[in-house]
Amino acid sequence: MISLLLPVILSCLLSTVFAAPAPILTKRDNSQATTAVSDATIDGDFVRPAQFSRIAYCSTQAVTSWQCGEPCAAVGNVTFLQAGGGDGLIPMYFIAHDQDTQTIVVAHQGTDPENILSIANDAQFLLTDLNTTLFPQAGQGVQVHDGFQKTFERTADGVLSGVQNALSSTGATKVLVTGHSLGAAIATMDAVMLKMNLDPSISLTSTVFGLPRGGDQSWADLVNSNLGTSFTHITNQNDPVPTVPPEFLGYQHPQGEVHIVSANATGATQTVACPGTENDNCSDGNSLLHVDVANHLGPYFQNISLSSKACPF
Ligand SMILES: *[C@@H]1O[C@H](CO)[C@@H](O)[C@H](O)[C@H]1NC(C)=O
Ligand SMILES: *[C@@H]1O[C@H](CO)[C@@H](O)[C@H](O)[C@H]1NC(C)=O
Ligand SMILES: *[C@@H]1O[C@H](CO)[C@@H](O)[C@H](O)[C@H]1NC(C)=O
Ligand SMILES: *[C@@H]1O[C@H](CO)[C@@H](O)[C@H](O)[C@H]1NC(C)=O
Ligand SMILES: *[C@@H]1O[C@H](CO)[C@@H](O)[C@H](O)[C@H]1NC(C)=O
Repeated sequence: MISLLLPVILSCLLSTVFAAPAPILTKRDNSQATTAVSDATIDGDFVRPAQFSRIAYCSTQAVTSWQCGEPCAAVGNVTFLQAGGGDGLIPMYFIAHDQDTQTIVVAHQGTDPENILSIANDAQFLLTDLNTTLFPQAGQGVQVHDGFQKTFERTADGVLSGVQNALSSTGATKVLVTGHSLGAAIATMDAVMLKMNLDPSISLTSTVFGLPRGGDQSWADLVNSNLGTSFTHITNQNDPVPTVPPEFLGYQHPQGEVHIVSANATGATQTVACPGTENDNCSDGNSLLHVDVANHLGPYFQNISLSSKACPF
């Protein structure tokens, strides 16, 4: 994955370097002070989404049979409900019922290292109009990443009907949407779509990892107004992915960044919440000279690496 992702990342980073004067004019970054995130918040709110995002990297067969070894064992009493994609063109997603928390979980696989088509999706980084069929309340003028939206569209109908069926068949009233990398971009679009289409009484949380920028300022505003503080995007140390596509192409992150400043050999992390958007004290302030592509995979909390490494097959 790293070797395949690298050209995309480097081309984005190089364009940033060569276009250096532009971002200074268009930057809306902030440098508000960060606040420490407690271990209780990490354990209560972030570990489980990371565990589900890791499961999404296992094969469709392992996920549909819920025989995915340590990644499945880590989440305990969960019933698999539906999967889609996973056919080479579309990254896999699954819907499951987390009985311990009475939550319907939607998790999207990220950029598949063996799947150059998914990488090509990442490379289509032009902004395009938001699909207002899927986002009826969005209004005009919202622009998103063309490749992410095309990938999102291929599973959106299945995700919406699958979540509606799951809520009515289980009686759950909570939904968690998660994913890593490309899966984080799709999960963010899913979360806004679900918020607009599900009954307002449903409590929806979206926690994603290694999120690239997915759209323009209007898209960031739409994410903020629909999801508010229920949206969290977790960035790890010097991962370059959250800094692409660059801001000077018109891209902006929504609010809700939580940044892992450091992780040590015990799996413990020093983690901070980053107020506002594009906070210079978090991933937006990462130096282009200290990029670490391996940080994209993790470790997120408790040594969780977001890849197929822990999957049995
Ligand atoms: C945030 O950034 C500002 C400006 O660079 C700096 O003064 C401040 O100390 C930083 N705060 C934290 C908590 O890193
Ligand atoms: C899982 O949850 C279901 C439904 O709540 C329950 O029937 C079952 O006993 C639980 N299994 C375990 C291993 O806890
Ligand atoms: C919007 O997404 C749907 C998939 O749900 C697709 O059928 C339709 O063609 C898309 N609209 C546009 C304008 O691309
Ligand atoms: C690892 O980090 C945690 C939290 O910052 C700290 O309490 C612990 O002492 C560290 N352990 C080592 C071996 O550095
Ligand atoms: C993280 O990995 C280290 C080294 O392999 C291990 O000692 C530690 O127990 C792990 N921590 C957790 C929470 O799994």
